[in-house]
Amino acid sequence: MDKFVIRGGTPLRGAIRISGAKNSALPCMAAAILTEDEVTLENIPDVRDIETERKLLVSMGAEVELGYGRAHHRTRIRCGSLDPVAKYEIVKTMRASSLVLGPLIARTGTARVAMPGGCAIGGRPIDLHIKALQAMGAEIAQEHGYLEARAKRLHGARIVFDKITVTGTEDLLMAAALADGETCMENCACEPEVLDVAKLLSAMGARIEGAGTATIRVQGVDRLHGAKHRIHPDRIEAGTFLVAAAITGGDLTLTGCNPHHLSSVIEKLREVGVQCELTADTIRVRASGPLRGANISTEEYPGFPTDMQAQFMALATQAEGTSLVTENIFENRFMHVQELVRMGANIRVEGRTAAVVGKSPLSAAAVMASDLRASASLVLAALVAEGETIIDRVYHIDRGYERIEEKLRGVGAKIRRIGNVFRETEEPTAEVTA
Ligand code: EPZ
Repeated sequence: MDKFVIRGGTPLRGAIRISGAKNSALPCMAAAILTEDEVTLENIPDVRDIETERKLLVSMGAEVELGYGRAHHRTRIRCGSLDPVAKYEIVKTMRASSLVLGPLIARTGTARVAMPGGCAIGGRPIDLHIKALQAMGAEIAQEHGYLEARAKRLHGARIVFDKITVTGTEDLLMAAALADGETCMENCACEPEVLDVAKLLSAMGARIEGAGTATIRVQGVDRLHGAKHRIHPDRIEAGTFLVAAAITGGDLTLTGCNPHHLSSVIEKLREVGVQCELTADTIRVRASGPLRGANISTEEYPGFPTDMQAQFMALATQAEGTSLVTENIFENRFMHVQELVRMGANIRVEGRTAAVVGKSPLSAAAVMASDLRASASLVLAALVAEGETIIDRVYHIDRGYERIEEKLRGVGAKIRRIGNVFRETEEPTAEVTA
């Protein structure tokens, strides 16, 4: 298994280009199931989860071309005839595999999808996906760890999600696009990734109003056609690099990003004492003076994103004063706390809130990644820790960050990867993963 070796203490300076959003590319790839025509997606990130999604679609009979040539990060998908089975061996490595459930039922009338199981950050149920699909006429039974679903044709319904769910909203949006009649979905997720999926579906012929707001109306159509779509920039990758500049006292410019998607993160960084200058598609972040502690409470978009909580906590260890970090979305998303404490952080957890007392000098240690964003926070801490930190199990990071060590090295970080090359032929002993 790959490891990162990081020597801290270098302020990051220069420019980093932001990749396409993993959490938009995954549902958009699943949307290709809805048509037998070819769907082309540009600006696909070169990360492990995309490879997992490719394997999943191919295992069901889809033709998937995935290329990362210099000019294009592009996938072309054609779902001719499909075997609507999502096998546990693949689903267990990526929970987002459940995104194929709605599209498979809508396209083929049946689906056999392994239950994703929990992961490092929480139970990750999909009961809200199931409840909503049943309201649209799907019969769904659970046996031997699989969901067995069938529906002659889904029909429109009024759906009110009990909780705001990002992939639940995306799953149902895709199912409703081919349903018979109108579907009105309320209490939807407003994340930009939902809007990106809706843009692809509309380009495929779907009739959608209100995507990106809490209420979405879909007029089902009989068939959808192929389309080409460019995936929007990854706001969490961008946010992670904003924190990298802040924690190292550097001066970074992020290009090819969408600052509008990061308003809550940018405001919080300014509150901490970081300068941020924005244009339509760049963010320049500078941190010269001392940092001040600030409180965050994770909320659904446009609130402070849970996927940035671990990264902000690493920054808070370097800010003067106490920062309260409250995680409201997932029940177990403090896996990074103990690893940060081993590096010298002063953090006390009470229920859903971690009290981070700064400024605590961090020292290098051998630490272990546990899930995607916790791993990112360890990289950030290592960039400022005294000495050489070794981070094990970096396949967690490779799931959602495109060649993070190359991007960081390009702006001065002393980071190298040891072990196998990026694309390990063998899946690591598959930990349950986020
Ligand atoms: C998406 O996960 C993202 N993944 C996550 O990013 C992100 O952390 C999360 O949204 C919240 O923003 C993808 O988009 C592929 P939810 P998702 O359904 O959709 C509960 C990363 O780091 N819930 O919005 O799975 C759930 O337990 C990943 O890139 C139910 O109870 O999250 C959680 O407490 C990690 N029943 C809350 O809702 C359901 O049926 C929000 O989960 C569904 C969800």
